[in-house]
Amino acid sequence: MPRILCVDDEPLNISLLQAILLPRRYEVIPASNGLEALEKIRTEHIDICLLDVMMPGIDGFEVCRRIKSEEEFGNIPVIMITALFDKENRIRGIESGAEDFISKPVDAAELLARVKMLLHVKELNDRLKSAYHNIAKLSVFGEQIISNFDPATFDFSEKIDSIVHQIIRSKLDISDSPQIVVIGMLDQTGGSQWVRYDSTDKDIDRSTIRTNLNQKLAFSDNNAPIVVFYNEDDPDMTASTFVEELKNQQIPVTNIVRYSNDSFSLIALNYGRKVTTHDATVLNSVVMQSLFLRSLAAQIRDTESAFEYTVLALARASEANDEDTGDHILRVGNYCALLARQLKLPDELVKTIRIQATLHDVGKIHISPAILKKPDKLTDDEWREMKLHTIHGSKIIGEHSRMTTADRIAISHHERYDGSGYPYGLSGEQIPIEGRILNLADQYDALRNARCYKPAFDHETTCRIILEGDGRTLPQHFDPEVLAAFKEIHRSFADVFEGQF
Ligand SMILES: [Fe+2]
Ligand SMILES: [Fe+2]
Repeated sequence: MPRILCVDDEPLNISLLQAILLPRRYEVIPASNGLEALEKIRTEHIDICLLDVMMPGIDGFEVCRRIKSEEEFGNIPVIMITALFDKENRIRGIESGAEDFISKPVDAAELLARVKMLLHVKELNDRLKSAYHNIAKLSVFGEQIISNFDPATFDFSEKIDSIVHQIIRSKLDISDSPQIVVIGMLDQTGGSQWVRYDSTDKDIDRSTIRTNLNQKLAFSDNNAPIVVFYNEDDPDMTASTFVEELKNQQIPVTNIVRYSNDSFSLIALNYGRKVTTHDATVLNSVVMQSLFLRSLAAQIRDTESAFEYTVLALARASEANDEDTGDHILRVGNYCALLARQLKLPDELVKTIRIQATLHDVGKIHISPAILKKPDKLTDDEWREMKLHTIHGSKIIGEHSRMTTADRIAISHHERYDGSGYPYGLSGEQIPIEGRILNLADQYDALRNARCYKPAFDHETTCRIILEGDGRTLPQHFDPEVLAAFKEIHRSFADVFEGQF
């Protein structure tokens, strides 16, 4: 029922207005002076204001000026009522922002016609304002969702939670947003989970709905999503079994905007006004953005895992004739990641090193099995060939931008910090950090395993050889920072070796 504020210092005039308005199903809120009128506008929901001009205290012109100048009063239409409508007063009325004028004595038909027209204008204004508000919200939401998008950590439930907080009514919000939002998701086992959000004076309450809603009604049973809106007085809403179902779940319903596909459902309820196709479009667009990002994130993760799988398959291919088999390459990747993290390299690089370190010996694919598996000491020629696995590896890996870490590792993992390594005899920081890290990791794993010329050493012996040297391996072979990092975290190396990592 539209609520009309009638402001007049003369009680009889208010009774007169009541007599005209009440039979037409308008609610009348009386005020006997300007200050009381402003207070009622501030504290109650008012759709239109009928304003007497001549009043003690602040007059009608001033009340109207204040209504029109303050943002919190919204856009309440004002009709001025007075006997004094000479030209000068009309101009003052227009200047103070009044929409319309009626002369005393009030003609009932004229008053009703003007009230009806201004209520319609107000409704259109409100709709426009709300559309504008929604578009502003949508663009903020769009920016947020894209700027924070990380496929590796994208969490759909979290995203839905943030959507709900965007669309549901909040204290700062204009009150025409939905008061309740219900979310349903179908899980892999065919069960469904339901969460209800209620906007309260203080906060937004989130609660799980224990009894499941009827799934046949709640989700779309074909590929086309359901995007609908209902208002209390629509025959569609009164006839809807889905609305009945919501009411059965103790969810009050005055209007609904709903998006449902075959596994996800978002129902926004009880907007502080009638809902329109515009609300359905807004909801649809918000949900579609999130669903799009969910599918994009899944595809990116899938491609990423296929990429890792391919890197590992290539690494495995190179192991075929090597003495290091089994999980050597995986372990080396893990040791390297431990050292890289301890050295505070960026997370993304740590992850890349873990995967791409597995390719360090891919060049051995070009080395004769007779050399790789020779139990005796290699001749000078054989040793020269063996050293070439670094260069072969770099060639196999090539120059793709996603593979630069693997390339650096392949070419430099046998360089030593003191310049005594191969293939180029680089020293110190000439050797890429990835190569310096891998050199130590590879040594650790080689020492822990038996070779034709040596037994397998335990963790303590291996640490001693790396940190203090044994004549063959020397501490100066290693980057002092990498060595210090190893000293800090050597226990984790033992865990990796024992398969506990
Ligand atoms: Fe190697
Ligand atoms: Fe290796």
